[in-house]
Amino acid sequence: MKSLSKILNILFLSAVLIGIPQFSFSVPEEISVQAGYLKAILAQADEAYFNRDESIMGNEAYDALRRRYDQLVADYPELAENAGVGAADERNTVPHQKPVLSLKKAYADSDVEAFIESCGTESLFCVEPKIDGLTIVLHYQNGVLVRALTRGDGKNGQDVTREAMAAGCVPTTLKGKPSSLCVRGELYFTQEAFEKLNARRASDGKKTLKSARSSASGTLRLYDYAEISRRGLSLSIYEWIESDLVPSTHQEAMAILWELGLPTIESVAVPADQLLGEIARLNGRRSGLPFETDGIVIKVNDRHRFNDMGATAHHPRAALARKYRSKPELTQLLRVEWSQSDAGKWTPVAHFVPVEMGGATLQSATLHNENHLRALDLRIGDWIQVIRAGGTVPEIIGVCTERRTGKEKPVPGIPEKESAEE
Ligand code: IVH
Repeated sequence: MKSLSKILNILFLSAVLIGIPQFSFSVPEEISVQAGYLKAILAQADEAYFNRDESIMGNEAYDALRRRYDQLVADYPELAENAGVGAADERNTVPHQKPVLSLKKAYADSDVEAFIESCGTESLFCVEPKIDGLTIVLHYQNGVLVRALTRGDGKNGQDVTREAMAAGCVPTTLKGKPSSLCVRGELYFTQEAFEKLNARRASDGKKTLKSARSSASGTLRLYDYAEISRRGLSLSIYEWIESDLVPSTHQEAMAILWELGLPTIESVAVPADQLLGEIARLNGRRSGLPFETDGIVIKVNDRHRFNDMGATAHHPRAALARKYRSKPELTQLLRVEWSQSDAGKWTPVAHFVPVEMGGATLQSATLHNENHLRALDLRIGDWIQVIRAGGTVPEIIGVCTERRTGKEKPVPGIPEKESAEE
């Protein structure tokens, strides 16, 4: 059965790729593709409801998908019998039409200044939050969603059309009918949705999830459409990949997508001399945003200039991610242990009261060497500031001397030295 459905899927996908209508010459291709996906989602939700008495997609998502499917069948009765090929629960790996690139990272204002120089000081620059979720690439044909892909390795992504439809935040139809449209955006949890999900998990006796970002990608990997729907993911579109429409700026592209009914990112265009100020302004709003961000994205507004500047294998040259200097967490130093490498080098390692940072529990950090340790002037029991350098590696960057009580103890020196001195 499995291999038969695989063969059918391959035939179906090849047909989609070379543009052969699948089931009937009177049903447009994109309609039969979408109907197949809808049928699969609804069948699963109905099966859970009727056979296992499980609450199906209880919210508006189910109703919206059901209404859409019923409308399609009313318009094209042939679909009722035929639209079933998309039902196999398999996620195909599909080549992207264009490489799905990443962004170059900048950690300092001087990097942003160098970027401005490389783009031209006369350019307008768009400034946007960098949402911390997962990339999704959406293909619409004649205003109908026909495929949603994950980023994958940038060349090939996974087909998550059914999951994206079940999520409820991805429009299945647009308010207009460009003959083709491919866009990219971020699927993510708002803080509110993530808290709700964790509250539900806690009351079901399940482990709570630590990181909104990895939970968003975990959610898209579920096979349970009802659960995907219930979790309440959000979508924000930030890149126009391809279409028969040709906007001349990023701002115009976002405005067209908004008019088409796609939720677009909030993007502000400013001249070069206002760019650092705009970045600082958005940085100041960071904690008030309803989603997690891990930086600010800067893009050249003019799309011709953007394309002319080209790309490396990793990122377009006309865009930059200004990463946040990470916010230090305060915690208390418990002890410093010395560890010795095979070559005999001693490294002090600080152990502190565990802190949650960026979805991980941190409780130790290297202090690199004795000079670094002494320069920080650490004492056991001190309140210390910990960051994740480059967004990952824990690093102690300072001591809150004003919180000292006088009970702090000196940090022991290198064991060898001490034993030699005895
Ligand atoms: S633009 C070709 N804009 O950041 C440029 N990316 O490392 C395409 N991201 O995986 C990216 N918010 O998923 C862009 N406003 C935004 C973004 C954004 C989040 C993510 C994106 C990508 C990562 C880049």
